[in-house]
Amino acid sequence: MAMGLKGKFITFEGSEGSGKSTQSALVVEYLKAKKLPVMLLREPGGVKISEKIREMLLDVKNTLMADECETLLYMAARAQLVKEVLKPALEEGKIVICDRFLDSTIAYQGWGNKVDVGAIEAIGNFAVAGLKPDLTLLFDIDTKEGLSRTNAKKDRIELRSLDYHTRVRQGYLDIAKKEPKRVKVISVDASKEVIFERVKRHIDKVL
Ligand SMILES: Nc1ncnc2c1ncn2[C@@H]1O[C@H](COP(=O)(O)OP(=O)(O)OP(=O)(O)O)[C@@H](O)[C@H]1O
Ligand SMILES: [Mg+2]
Repeated sequence: MAMGLKGKFITFEGSEGSGKSTQSALVVEYLKAKKLPVMLLREPGGVKISEKIREMLLDVKNTLMADECETLLYMAARAQLVKEVLKPALEEGKIVICDRFLDSTIAYQGWGNKVDVGAIEAIGNFAVAGLKPDLTLLFDIDTKEGLSRTNAKKDRIELRSLDYHTRVRQGYLDIAKKEPKRVKVISVDASKEVIFERVKRHIDKVL
């Protein structure tokens, strides 16, 4: 829950090419049409300092980056985003849509890289000061299908093996199983328009 904050915090999660960016843009359009105060953010990034960290994280030249460093950089980018814009926006009563959040680190660094999930949760809690999404939409796609939808020019994370990305998907589904109230799984087996109808149903419920 957005902890007594006036706004609503909605995150979009899922593995590569699952449609997070496509659907979050549609949701923003939908809420703007309703004249609701909405802010769209993405992770890692969203503010200047975090976008700089993003460059480091996705740069294919950073072949030596340790799993621990990678985990902490994601958290550092997130902490900055939360403090600089996300929390203030929620305090002002905005609806904040975030393309990826803490669940991504549990899935990618925890399940994917096999970094201790308990440690990630503890550091995560420190980084975001306990902030939890009111709703998380998890876009679930066949791993190969998702990867085939991404750009030909792959970033440092996208380049990882099919096994890695399969573990990421399992990690996400595990989170959804543990937190069914917050996390809604949306299977990506239809057109953008049909999927948006499913998305809208969940969004309308929390607003
Ligand atoms: N329902 C759909 N059916 C077919 N193609 C889709 C669908 N939704 C999105 N796409 C296409 O799949 C590609 C990936 O979608 P999108 O960028 O929204 O995914 P993403 O989850 O944000 O990916 P990434 O993890 O790489 O950021 C895009 O080219 C998009 O146009
Ligand atoms: Mg995207």
